[in-house]
Amino acid sequence: MNWFPEHPPIYDIKKTYLENVEKGPFFDGEIPERKWPPEEKWIDFLGHKVASPIGIPAGPLLSSNWIKLAARLGFDVLTYKTIRSGAHPAHPLPNMVFVDTQGQLSPKEGGAIRILPKPKENIEDLAVTNSFGMPSMSPEFLLEDIQKANNYLLPGQVMIVSVVGTPGREIGFLEDFIAAALLAKEGGAKIIEANFSCPNVAKKEGSLYMSPDIVYEFGKAIAKVIHPIPLIIKVGIFGSLEQMNDMLVKAAFAGVLGVCGINTIGRAVIDEKGNPALGAHRLTSGICGGPIRNAALEFIRNAAKINKKEKLDLTILGVGGVVLPEHFDLFLEAGAAIAMTGTAMMWDPYIGMQYHESKHKRAHS
Ligand SMILES: Cc1cc2nc3c(=O)[nH]c(=O)nc-3n(C[C@H](O)[C@H](O)[C@H](O)COP(=O)(O)O)c2cc1C
Repeated sequence: MNWFPEHPPIYDIKKTYLENVEKGPFFDGEIPERKWPPEEKWIDFLGHKVASPIGIPAGPLLSSNWIKLAARLGFDVLTYKTIRSGAHPAHPLPNMVFVDTQGQLSPKEGGAIRILPKPKENIEDLAVTNSFGMPSMSPEFLLEDIQKANNYLLPGQVMIVSVVGTPGREIGFLEDFIAAALLAKEGGAKIIEANFSCPNVAKKEGSLYMSPDIVYEFGKAIAKVIHPIPLIIKVGIFGSLEQMNDMLVKAAFAGVLGVCGINTIGRAVIDEKGNPALGAHRLTSGICGGPIRNAALEFIRNAAKINKKEKLDLTILGVGGVVLPEHFDLFLEAGAAIAMTGTAMMWDPYIGMQYHESKHKRAHS
């Protein structure tokens, strides 16, 4: 059950996003036999019984074929990559580039980060910048594919569909957010996640979570139209604890049931010569992988503390920097109900099965 660094990632970073949708995932390994926990040990996640608290956030699972593979590789909470109300192209290549953060990234320091031609040998240092611009397939494709993806799940698994609004369409931004959520609902989504944080798109679209009032307004409107489907919101790191506190309280009042964080951390990314690595139009892009783990852990600890203090009863989904099987437990111990890995599952798709294997061993030793 070893993949990294001998095997290439299951997402081919030299190919376009569409080629990865149509031909991926590029996985030719064996599917290891999973030792499932008994059903009475499954846990409740927003009204669904899941066999384990580990999953994949919005991003790596581009289509039903990707969901199918991840489900068989032991991930029980699977997120269908963010969709829009209408088809939307990806940014041009490159969409993913290796970076050298020189250790854990500090959210408070904002220096530029240099690219690397290939990943470092140690998966703990696996760090990439990704910049896709939240592409989306057509509504016709999505209605069929979300259904297909749901049908690929195994007992003890559930899929979240991530949605985002697109400003500048004929209808308003909030109305378009609602249209995307309704599309997910029509496709058969069991849980919907509204992406209120993406560092790779226009500011308005990318940092909704920073405004507690907008979170309240958008959260309430979306929760209402998708009712009784549970709503999660995806957020990034906060400027202060007060801002986080305010946002979580307003989200809970709006009817949001879960909070997923963190998204990638936006940074200037430069090449060997000091020029913008992704071109003059993309000066900053999101950093993900191992070096954002401390920031994610801090987010989870703070969210759990506020959740308890304010009695919000929010379900916390922790993501950011899980690159080894034991990192899932760090997130769960910090207060996450669900622990997820994005980047690492593309470079080491066996990370979920390794986690289950070690749990099983510990339970039977
Ligand atoms: C290839 C890729 C695409 C992503 N696309 C999305 C997206 O469409 N919507 C979203 O909310 N987050 C997206 N993300 C962010 C992840 O959900 C996650 O928050 C982030 O990568 C941190 O986790 P990680 O360090 O385990 O990768 C993406 C991440 C990656 C690696």
